[in-house]
Amino acid sequence: MTGPATPALLRRAKADTVAFMVTVDGLPVQVHPGDSVAVAVLCAGGKPYRRAVLGDAPRAPYCMMGACFECLVQVDGVPNRQGCLVPARPGMRIVRQNGLNAGPQEGPAE
Ligand code: FES
Repeated sequence: MTGPATPALLRRAKADTVAFMVTVDGLPVQVHPGDSVAVAVLCAGGKPYRRAVLGDAPRAPYCMMGACFECLVQVDGVPNRQGCLVPARPGMRIVRQNGLNAGPQEGPAE
């Protein structure tokens, strides 16, 4: 596995799936079939999931079912995708968002 260890909370109960790689902010992250883009970003760890539109506050997915819009990310160049609703696919390029723009977050990892 490449990148940080997957937190126990996020490990899949079913271990017989074949993992694949996506990138989050340019770094490789291993995910499994059925994982969402939001899961990939959470597994990447490090920085906050995203930054709020107003006030620059760190935000994270809340509902994981498409209701709260706290999981917005850029996926393959398309901004403002709801990460919890987009299935991860091999080779996807995921970028955390600052507010409404799709630019990568600035500053050191937290
Ligand atoms: S986590 Fe709530 S919409 Fe994605």
